Amino acid sequence: MKKVLALILALAMVFALASTSVAFADDAHKVGISMPTKSLERWNRDGSYLKEQFEAAGFEVELTYSDNDAVQQNNDIANMIADGVEVLVIAAIDSDTLSSVLADAADAGIVTIAYDRLINNADIAYYVSFDNYTVGVLQAQYVIDALDLENAGDKTYNIEFTAGDPADTNAGYFFNGAFDTLKPFIDAGTLQIPSGKTTFEQVATPQWSTDTALENFQNTLASYYGDGTVLDIALCSNDSTAAGVAQAIVSDYAGSNQPIVTGQDGDIGNLQNIVDGIQTMTVYKNVSDEAGVTLVLVSAILDGETPGEELCEKFDAEAAFDTETYDNGLGVVPSYLLVPYSIDASNLDLLVETGNYEWDANNQYLVSTLG
Ligand code: BGC
Repeated sequence: MKKVLALILALAMVFALASTSVAFADDAHKVGISMPTKSLERWNRDGSYLKEQFEAAGFEVELTYSDNDAVQQNNDIANMIADGVEVLVIAAIDSDTLSSVLADAADAGIVTIAYDRLINNADIAYYVSFDNYTVGVLQAQYVIDALDLENAGDKTYNIEFTAGDPADTNAGYFFNGAFDTLKPFIDAGTLQIPSGKTTFEQVATPQWSTDTALENFQNTLASYYGDGTVLDIALCSNDSTAAGVAQAIVSDYAGSNQPIVTGQDGDIGNLQNIVDGIQTMTVYKNVSDEAGVTLVLVSAILDGETPGEELCEKFDAEAAFDTETYDNGLGVVPSYLLVPYSIDASNLDLLVETGNYEWDANNQYLVSTLG
């Protein structure tokens, strides 16, 4: 008798579980997450955190990477629309090529969130990112503090810039944040730019490619530093470009000093370069927090809310609600902007405190806590 009862109970549990999971799958909101590429380290992290956090909240997730190919990203998004997603979270490869597919999404009643990169001339409900201009300001401020430029007197320093992908709206903000902050020192002659490359267009790096940054910087070193001119600062907008520039300095720079090399993201290889002294700093943006903010925002929208400033209180991370900065051509897109901060060899433990990194077995380099 006991055995029969146990069997009936077990069967009842199996049926109960089966029916909850069926009901759960039917009710689950479906979100389409479109990331640019697996070839740039950070988007692998973004994709993983977004998927993990949305699934933990009960969402069904469709995640695509489009190989840095804008046409493919269009197709991937079109497929997600056909698959019946209710929300799209998109980090655009090219900020200017998604208008038409996102008009289709809007017609289908789909809510689109521009993730990290603004999308121009498209129907975007919200933009979730970091304060992109401040990323550049932090890089410049690091240089100002490290060289004590305020008290430089007659001393002069040589600087070269490396910026990002012109197809990415963020790239201009990063460059301008850094350039504007350093401009008073350039105007005063404290900072000199031997290559004369002072505009974003002259120093942009299509697709944020490490190889292109390497090649461009080798050319700059050969043309302007071959005669022994000292390079003091390589102001790079992010880690993928800094990796190429650091490599060019190691292989092709004749000087005996180590120039300051800036970056952004906290990519694992770049953090190793910081430990090894061939990159100086990076601006860290906690993309696990960026995913978390996106989840809270999407959940509020699906609950029928029209989120504003008050939503910031529900985030686990600090973020500002901005309704002025990001005009995408159709109007200003309401934005939630998280806070970036500077990391160098002296405060790498701050990264461990995020839970996203840990020290390796030798306590020498940081590794990711993501599987
Ligand atoms: C992101 C940066 C990243 C770059 C290249 C930008 O849009 O904001 O964090 O370094 O793309 O992946």
